[in-house]
Amino acid sequence: MRNVLIIDYAGRGHAFADLFVRTDPDVTVHLAPGCAAITDDRIVSAPWLDIYHPGPVVEYAREIGADLAMPAHPRSLTEGFVDELRAAGVPTIGPDRSATRLESSKRFTKELCVKYGIPTAGYRYFEDPAAAIAYVRSADGPHVVKGNESCQGNGVFICETEAEAIDAINRLMVSRDFGPGGRTIIIEEKLVGRELLYFALVGGEHHLMLPMAVDYPRSDDGNRGVMCGGMGAFSPSPDDTPEEIERFERQMLRPLLAAIDAEGLHYTGVIYVGCMLVGDQLHLIEINARMGDPEAEVVFPRITTNFTEVATSILDGTLDRQPPLVVTDECFVNVVATQGPTREPGRSFPGWPYGEYGRGYPITGLDTVDRDRCLVFYGAARTRPDGQLVTDGGKNVNLVGRGATLDEAASHAYQAIAEVSFQGIRYRNDIAKAMPWD
Ligand code: AMP
Ligand code: GLY
Repeated sequence: MRNVLIIDYAGRGHAFADLFVRTDPDVTVHLAPGCAAITDDRIVSAPWLDIYHPGPVVEYAREIGADLAMPAHPRSLTEGFVDELRAAGVPTIGPDRSATRLESSKRFTKELCVKYGIPTAGYRYFEDPAAAIAYVRSADGPHVVKGNESCQGNGVFICETEAEAIDAINRLMVSRDFGPGGRTIIIEEKLVGRELLYFALVGGEHHLMLPMAVDYPRSDDGNRGVMCGGMGAFSPSPDDTPEEIERFERQMLRPLLAAIDAEGLHYTGVIYVGCMLVGDQLHLIEINARMGDPEAEVVFPRITTNFTEVATSILDGTLDRQPPLVVTDECFVNVVATQGPTREPGRSFPGWPYGEYGRGYPITGLDTVDRDRCLVFYGAARTRPDGQLVTDGGKNVNLVGRGATLDEAASHAYQAIAEVSFQGIRYRNDIAKAMPWD
């Protein structure tokens, strides 16, 4: 395998590319769209490509003779990149469009759980707000109200009171504050327990565990603010023990992969399984049909196994013959520099993830980051024709400190991010210092 094509806009794609080139001296990774600021000779950016239009990506994969394509961004998966790349004869790792319903439809996954006896919170599905409101008035709470389809990480409400639940239903279904993903909803019982995130590489019925990570899904320090998919992460996780992994594989992953297989879904690539441990039993909270971001940026740097060989065994259906991944004990802490509030003449932006955000603000200071202590993975950042790196979205740059301990890694990440500036830069100050469940 010589030419790999990764499709992702987030820092996760850069971290995937880094994993390949670091563990395999012979591979070249093409990153669509990538970022011209990436200096590695064997990571080639293709900034004219995007995660919404498979056609040009398929054409590019043919031009470069891609031995492997990996759409890694959820949007590229739901847009059917995997199906189109495969149809064009490009070996591709990722769930096909039908399998991405495991992430894109909460109802689909709930029905799968019920059909195959996989433990999960009890739920009801609603297409009509009046019926949903009548249900919360009649049933005991607390309720968890969720948009059935993607609400950009913002569509989950844990409601302690009936009034909160009704408000969530109205915001999701009536005023559509979170877009079309709230057109239909599910209402779940609230589970109380410990949240655990697991990632595994899947090749048909076989899997290989990836190291665990802890992420910070809330926007603000002290785990306040809105759910936004992640302001930072660290690895290793204190829960990454052989006993917990064995429990996860036994109680959750094997039954889940058997169910996926029995439904005839074609799943390869990373599966992200969010669970709640209630007593001794794991319950499924969510599936993401791809690696998490910002978790990828702390998980992948720990892997030293030749990743081209792992990818080849997924394509060949021989993942069961791969030994467990070799993983270092080194600690990694990702602090994400995001596009916060800005003002421009005549208008102001609340910033990501609160609302609209400005773009195109020059990013400075990355050249002074000590790369032996802190990795830099580019997300929504692009280089202008004049060579200036500028912001281009919500999660702009990942500063990933490394060290023998989490404290050391966190201090390297925070030293580095203090050097970085752009208009409206915003990050959490407590990544790996306080826990996300505190
Ligand atoms: P989801 O997008 O479904 O993963 O939900 C986002 C977050 O909401 C999860 O990571 C949990 O912290 C919380 N959550 C979701 N569903 C439940 C539930 N049934 N009980 C308790 N907390 C939940
Ligand atoms: N960090 C959660 C996600 O990638 O959706």
